[in-house]
Amino acid sequence: MKPLILINCKTYAEVSGEKGVRFARKIAFVKSRKYEVAIAPPLLLLKEVAQKVRIAVFAQHVDSEEYGAHTGRVLVAEVKEAGARGVILNHSERKVGFEMLRKSVELGKKKGLEVVICASTIVEVKKVASLKPDFIAYEPAALIGGEVSVTRAKPEVISEVVRIVKKMSPRTRVLCGAGVHDREDLQTAIGLGASGVLLAHAIVKAKDPAMVLKKMMR
Ligand code: G3P
Repeated sequence: MKPLILINCKTYAEVSGEKGVRFARKIAFVKSRKYEVAIAPPLLLLKEVAQKVRIAVFAQHVDSEEYGAHTGRVLVAEVKEAGARGVILNHSERKVGFEMLRKSVELGKKKGLEVVICASTIVEVKKVASLKPDFIAYEPAALIGGEVSVTRAKPEVISEVVRIVKKMSPRTRVLCGAGVHDREDLQTAIGLGASGVLLAHAIVKAKDPAMVLKKMMR
């Protein structure tokens, strides 16, 4: 499978409202034979982006409830219906309890969604690997949003994560994230055995996001 570049838009102002759809179009316009690019738009833009832009869309979060009296919850069934191909769970900025995580993974798999679980430590990687998601995204919290990428700061930990996941859940692919911002970071991640990267600010807050992505995939 092609390495995945998953762009998490978070709730950055640069991609709110119509700007988010324009951003997704610019990103979708950048083609690569070698990499797959997917996007996690702000949740309220998910349906519009999925309908208007030819790019794989992931939900930034889902809850573990199903239809019913659950005010303010984001349902797996609804993000599937909105056109999502996958979901991100347990991001450092949106951590959830293990039981809720287990239930959300179960619901996601039942709906045929690709499940990405974020983990910020080796201990957490081992814990979430037991849920056998499609992807585990290793992101040390302290490096998120910074200029020093995980691939430069913690290459040995990425290798360890890849080794652990391969042993505990061979079908699960590893993404690494936090501070990823250029071609070298992407190449290093893949060289360490990861199947791609999860990134945000280097592309979402760039003056020319498409150019940054193009250079990264060159
Ligand atoms: O989910 C991706 C994210 O947490 C990494 O953020 O801005 O360091 O690429 P950033």
